Amino acid sequence: MSKDTQKPLADPALRLKAEEALAEEVSHVLPHTTTLQRTEHELRVYQIELEMQNEQLRQSQVALLASQARYAALYDQAPVGYLSLDSAGVIEQANLAACSLLGLVRDALLQRALSDFVAAAEQDSYYLLRRSSALHGQAQVAELPMVRADGEPFWAQLVANTADVSNGKEVLHLVLSDISERKRRELVRKRMASRIKELSRRLVQAQEEARKRLSRALHDGTSANLTALRLNLDQIVKAAAQAPDARLFWERVEDTRGLIADTNFSIRDICAELHTPALDRGGLLEVVRSYAQQFTKRTGLPVAVDCAHADLRLEPFLELSLFRIVQECLTNCAKHASASTIHVAIALSRTPRRVEVVDDGCGFELSLAATDARPGGLGLQNMRETAEFLGGNLLLESAPGRGTRVVVLV
Ligand SMILES: Nc1ncnc2c1ncn2[C@@H]1O[C@H](COP(=O)(O)OP(=O)(O)OP(=O)(O)O)[C@@H](O)[C@H]1O
Ligand SMILES: [Mg+2]
Repeated sequence: MSKDTQKPLADPALRLKAEEALAEEVSHVLPHTTTLQRTEHELRVYQIELEMQNEQLRQSQVALLASQARYAALYDQAPVGYLSLDSAGVIEQANLAACSLLGLVRDALLQRALSDFVAAAEQDSYYLLRRSSALHGQAQVAELPMVRADGEPFWAQLVANTADVSNGKEVLHLVLSDISERKRRELVRKRMASRIKELSRRLVQAQEEARKRLSRALHDGTSANLTALRLNLDQIVKAAAQAPDARLFWERVEDTRGLIADTNFSIRDICAELHTPALDRGGLLEVVRSYAQQFTKRTGLPVAVDCAHADLRLEPFLELSLFRIVQECLTNCAKHASASTIHVAIALSRTPRRVEVVDDGCGFELSLAATDARPGGLGLQNMRETAEFLGGNLLLESAPGRGTRVVVLV
């Protein structure tokens, strides 16, 4: 065979198969003695090779068509919308989910600008999404309010994927999902959270009002009477001293005077506890410090107060609630702990904000406090509930002989 008649790209495996096929066709092969016989043989083998290549090509085409059909079905039946946009943001391709999300049949959707379906107020965000996707070449995500063709609004998540710059043409692939339900739930959750916050604020306010009223009633209604009673008794004592046989009577009066003085002290203590501190003047730290000083004067227990950012202010109801928690902790120390030192640490600069009260007293068995084994005792429960009301939580550490640590995180 001359060089001109040789195939340009011979595949040795295919050639071998073609030779075998030819061998099966003709029962006995005569030796190719002449050039003509050899050329005839070569041409026949070549023909068989071509037929085989043809068959392979046909099979590949069938497989390609099947794979294309599978891809088209997957593309169209995907639960999220797929869109391909040109560099001007015009829709070039859209799957069925995208068509149904935007409320148009495919033919009506193609060649429309996707910006037509983005809410007017968010056109800039949409533009930035396309731009940053083109610039950074990575998936960019945005959540935008959109509008269907019939005017119905919905929330969508858009994932804009690397712009394909093959053939010098930019294509932006977008995945579009309807997130209206999630947004609705987020909105409900936000509203609930702000409602709970408002209710907590009002609850704290109502409690404080009640404390104020009680404190005023105790002070105005009883303290003054007790003082008047004591003055009366002073007069009576003076008069009784002039009548020597009234000794017994005089002793009773002295006793009554003592009781009145005692009651007066208790009322003053109760009023001090009930008193709503003037948080508007100073922050939580100032109020805690001033209360700790009073507490030390009353109980003889030293209290160290620490605060990293003294001038930081929180919402008034939050400051008040945290103050009440510290107050209950200190009262518990005085009532139950037999502690020699108490340490209050306040850290408000970061969330969660942290208030900690630690004593080195006798401690107690937490499992007992958690069960109803102890009678009475609402302080710990109130503190926990207050912390939860504020959207935070309370941690309690204690063990017999190991002191007690209360940490509030809000
Ligand atoms: N700092 C502490 N040291 C030792 N024991 C404590 C301390 N704080 C609380 N306890 C124990 O935990 C129990 C429950 O405290 P809680 O504040 O709930 O109730 P209470 O102080 O007994 O009563 P209330 O606070 O209602 O006036 C207390 O009775 C006490 O035994
Ligand atoms: Mg208590």
